[in-house]
Amino acid sequence: MKIHVREFRESDIPRLVQILTLNDQYKHPAIEGPESMKRVAMCDAAVFMIAETDKQICGFIKAVYDGSRALIHLLSVHPDYQHSGVGTALVDAVAAEFIRRGAPTVSVTATEQSVGFWEKIGFRRVPVLLMLKELK
Ligand SMILES: CC(C)(COP(=O)(O)OP(=O)(O)OC[C@H]1O[C@@H](n2cnc3c(N)ncnc32)[C@H](O)[C@@H]1OP(=O)(O)O)[C@@H](O)C(=O)NCCC(=O)NCCS
Repeated sequence: MKIHVREFRESDIPRLVQILTLNDQYKHPAIEGPESMKRVAMCDAAVFMIAETDKQICGFIKAVYDGSRALIHLLSVHPDYQHSGVGTALVDAVAAEFIRRGAPTVSVTATEQSVGFWEKIGFRRVPVLLMLKELK
């Protein structure tokens, strides 16, 4: 399967919401929804990339590098395309962009179910917890 990775476009949004919903990753539209996607696309520190195969969007990745830490905060591959190298291609593309920007490392906010994937592509666990506070 030939995978093409490119930058996000606003016309991608409905398909990205569909992929997130199928993967049970669309519980907080204020954080992951269309308006947030548009803001991320405008942010210079962000990297927002789409994977396509035969012109069909099959996954996407969002990450940020602020000059210190580079952090992948969302990766989602359509269930029909999982285990076909799409996730790896997206992480490789983000890593290449962060190397270009001078980032020394890259981290990810991972779920327990996806830890095996991250370890397979070279990430290791670190003793850090993600903590959250609602602002509204
Ligand atoms: C986790 C996810 C991003 C992996 O993407 P993918 O395109 O299926 O991964 P790849 O095909 O590039 O897999 C690379 C390797 O990791 C393995 N792998 C994939 N998902 C795995 C998982 N959940 N656990 C353990 N290993 C996994 C693959 O078998 C493959 O191994 P191989 O090279 O020996 O064949 C994808 O399954 C997904 O979107 N899941 C739902 C959402 C999610 O969990 N996102 C990550 C949250 S941080």
